[in-house]
Amino acid sequence: MILVTGGIGYIGSHTVVELINRNYEVVILDNYNNSKPEVMDSIERITGKRPKFYEVDLLNEIELNRIFEENSIDAVIHFAGHKAVAESVQDPLKYYQNNIVGTINLLEIMKKHDVRNIVFSSSATVYGIDHEPPFSEDDSVKSINPYGRTKEMIEQILIDVALSDINWSIVSLRYFNPIGAHESGLIGEEPKGTPNNLMPYITQVAAGKREKLLIFGDDYDTPDGTGVRDYIHVMDLAKGHIVAIGYSMNHEGHEIFNLGTGKGYSVLEVLNIFQRVNNVKIPYEIVERRLGDTASCYADVSKGNHLLKWRADKNLEDMCRDAWNFERLKFKR
Ligand code: WQD
Repeated sequence: MILVTGGIGYIGSHTVVELINRNYEVVILDNYNNSKPEVMDSIERITGKRPKFYEVDLLNEIELNRIFEENSIDAVIHFAGHKAVAESVQDPLKYYQNNIVGTINLLEIMKKHDVRNIVFSSSATVYGIDHEPPFSEDDSVKSINPYGRTKEMIEQILIDVALSDINWSIVSLRYFNPIGAHESGLIGEEPKGTPNNLMPYITQVAAGKREKLLIFGDDYDTPDGTGVRDYIHVMDLAKGHIVAIGYSMNHEGHEIFNLGTGKGYSVLEVLNIFQRVNNVKIPYEIVERRLGDTASCYADVSKGNHLLKWRADKNLEDMCRDAWNFERLKFKR
């Protein structure tokens, strides 16, 4: 049985669908901080199964322990955590408390119940701005915001835990830019409030919910001056978690893998592909750079290709088509 923390969030819900499709038994923990109860209905509609669900916050050790008392858990996929860069700058203690203390609680209770397999949702944000891409797992890390620093600190905690006891098997997955949605259009990226990220903002402009896209700077040292990122389809990311769980069940120690495509696209390239494949017009305006943004970020994916035998196979057209399909179907749900 796999416990998925944050399992009705954007990446968590897509991973839960993949786990169920591969006949894993799943139990979900979520506190609805950045997710909606209706996602459970969508998971059931897609898979025909409704996983056991606990509305629990990782800071509630008693309730967290109860999940392990009531279920025979073999491994954990840990998504639960705050993830908004700008918010982390304004309220760092909220991020350190929730992301770090929450993870320590989880690890303590896993240890108490002798559960020693965990896949952790890390982020390419840890690479900071000291290197040029493509970023490799053995590059030094130096986050430039509290959100990224929580990911960096948790990776270090996991390294130390794995070194302290050979029975632990831990995989940290560094996501680049997950976008897109399940082909059914029933689950997808649905941030609360104004989207921070590019793709949900674009789909809301396409849906007429927002007037235009603001492009944060076109004076970067990139081919067309706009920011370059490694966008990866959320279903490819979900599949990466399935192979990572398998890897963790057969290896001791801590291992880090990038989950990206290895290819970077600029904001204007994404916009043009989105408009072309979906036959929609997205008005935009070039404005000032956003604080904390880097020019270019994309992955060296050779380690995951080799050791996990995993490779992203969906392209940017698929990502743009599926993202719009999810937004469009919202009106019909
Ligand atoms: C992508 C590009 C923006 C919005 C962040 C986190 C990362 C991960 C993914 C959690 C950049 C430009 C964006 C907009 C724009 N989150 N942009 N107008 O910043 O690469 O990564 O989200 O794990 O950790 O750091 O993603 O989608 O915000 O931006 O021009 O309205 O789109 O400048 O070049 P980012 P993003």
